[in-house]
This record gives sequence, C-alpha cells and structure tokens, in this order.
Amino acid sequence: EKGNYRHFMQKEIFEQPTVVAQTLRSYLRPVEQQVALPQIDFDISAIDRITLVACGTSYYAGMVAKYWFEQFARVPVDIDFASEFRYRDPVLSEGGLALFISQSGETADTLAALRHCREQGQVIAAVVNVPTSSMAREADLLLPTHAGPEIGVASTKAFTCQLAVLAALAAHFAVKKGRLSREEEAEIVEHLLEAPACLNAALDHDDDIASMAHLIAPARDVLYLGRGADFPLALEGALKLKEISYIHAEGYAAGEMKHGPIALIDENVPVIVLAPSGPLFEKTVSNMQEVQARGGQVVLISDAEGIAQAGEDCIATIEMPKVHPLIAPLVYAVPVQLLAYHVAVAKGTDVDQPRNLAKSVTVE
Ligand code: M6R
Repeated sequence: EKGNYRHFMQKEIFEQPTVVAQTLRSYLRPVEQQVALPQIDFDISAIDRITLVACGTSYYAGMVAKYWFEQFARVPVDIDFASEFRYRDPVLSEGGLALFISQSGETADTLAALRHCREQGQVIAAVVNVPTSSMAREADLLLPTHAGPEIGVASTKAFTCQLAVLAALAAHFAVKKGRLSREEEAEIVEHLLEAPACLNAALDHDDDIASMAHLIAPARDVLYLGRGADFPLALEGALKLKEISYIHAEGYAAGEMKHGPIALIDENVPVIVLAPSGPLFEKTVSNMQEVQARGGQVVLISDAEGIAQAGEDCIATIEMPKVHPLIAPLVYAVPVQLLAYHVAVAKGTDVDQPRNLAKSVTVE
C-alpha cells in the first residue's frame, strides 16, 4: 500500500531512515560499539581477495564497497558487472570470497555468476533483500538487507540498505584482519548509527528539490560528477534519472571530465555535482569550476560549509547535513533519488513502472 504517498518509489525513498536502522540492527552492537555479523563458518582473516559481482544499482553499491574493503581492511577487490563476469574467464584464487549483491536475489546474470564461482571453489556470500530467493538459498553466507518489499522498479531503499550491510562487512573484515583498533571500530559503528538521522535530515530537503525539478526536466542530457566513494553515487544518480524520466544522463568521475566529456558542456547540459566537504572537496570543486568556466549550469549537492564555499555561481544548491565521509554515500543517495523522482513527476512519466523495464531481470 502506498499510504499517503503518490508513488511506491516516493514511499520507499522516505522509508530509508527506518529500514536502514532496521538493517543496521542486525549488524551492529551499539552498546559494545562493535560490528556483529551472522555466524560464519569460515576464517575471514584467511581471505585475501574479494570478487564482487552485481548488476545495475546493486553494482554501484558494490563499487562503493570496494573503496571500503580496500581502505579499512586492505583487501583487494575486483568488481564486475554480472553480465560480463564469466565471459572474461576471471582468475579466481583458491579460498577467495565471491560476494554477490542483489535486491531480488533472482537476477539471472548474477545468479549464473554465483554458480560459476561455486564451481571454482570460492566461498559465496550474498547481500540479498528477498530472503526466500535463489541467491539467498545458495549462498554460504547470507547477509540480508531488511528493506522490506521494494515495489518501484527504480531501486532506492534496497541500495542504502546494501550500503549499510557492506559498510558493516568491510569493518568486520578490517577487525578480523587486525587493521582496526577497538577505538577505530567504535568510531565506525558510531558513524553508521548516525546514518538514519542523517537520512532524515536529507529527506527534509524534499520540497527544495521538488522546486528545482523544472531546471532539469527540459534537459536532453544531464551529467553527474563525484569523486572517491561518491563517484558511484554519480553513476547511481544518472541511472535513476535515465530510468524514470527518460532523460539521457551520465555519471563521471569528476577528474575524468577534462579527458573528454567536458566537450559536451554548454548552457543546456545541467551538471549535478556531488561534493560533501571532506578530503576530496577541493579537487571536486575545481573540476566543477572547469565546467562553470565553459558555461556549464551546475547544481551543487553539498553541506552548508561546502555550499558557502563554492555554491555562489551555481544555478541551484541542495543542502545535505554535514556527515562523516563513511556515510556520505548513503546520505547523498537521497538527493539523487529525489531529484530523479521529481523530474519524472514533472515530466509525467510512469515513475513506478517505467517503460521497457522489469523489477527483476530473470533472463541473461
Ligand atoms: O535485484 P537486483 O538488485 O539483482 O537487480 C539489479 C538491477 O536490475 C537493478 O538494480 C536495476 O538496475 C534497477 N532498476 C535500478 O534502479
């Protein structure tokens, strides 16, 4: 049931503080300030390589997780689109962990990749939202997201719940690998526990975002830029916009702009810049200024501090709460989801059932 909401997608966007909190409850011990995973019968500290496989939005969650696994646990991560994975005949070392991410647990390419990895002797872990799905049944280690049923074809709450689980998993790996002190683990737990309140604060800007939809709705092309763990959010923002508003959009690593796509910039191509203040802020802003110097119309998504520093020449700004870089990808998911949503509503497209798409892709 949609309750007071106009669309399932809108309802699911607004459920995120609740379902992320619900998901985190099974992975964190707040009192002890520790990460806690379901019972595992293999030795995590022996795992020295992770192969991550997924499609679409779940793939972008995996891209964010790669930053976390490498940063906290110093475990190298390979990541592939499930549809490409088997065809490159990947080299899988004995005892590696293969990690699959899927809302439905039924995506045909991801499931085929899972079975391939099983044949290759990998330990199989799966972050899945549907507990009765094929992937949930076939995994050695099931890491459920507790997002509840996701009806909108465009994935929203499943994504932020995947990120919550993956952050906890990366921290767990880091603990087992002896890479995190007790204090550092406690700090990560504390930041993750702040996520639901920060998601709520992000949702408070719904009206501002709705009121700027008219700036994007007439565009033929839109670019999204981000850096570091927020680069996958640029990809996710572009995917959301394409899916439900049918506007051509691309996500780019901010620093890659000047290697080609900057040639696209003119006053008709809005550029959405994701730039939370933090270690990558200055660099991202200088890429943003390169865009502005060529007449690019920028929408800056940042916190109050970032907007005060760099928001002046933008056509619009979207203010996010100031968050720790660890949870920025969760929080910045909200404005890109809402922007796509309101643009689609302004264009009158079918938000929950966009053309040519199915909720679960069960053919390869
Ligand atoms: O159920 P899955 O997470 O395996 O689905 C993967 C993709 O099909 C899915 O994320 C798709 O890209 C969404 N429509 C994105 O909003």
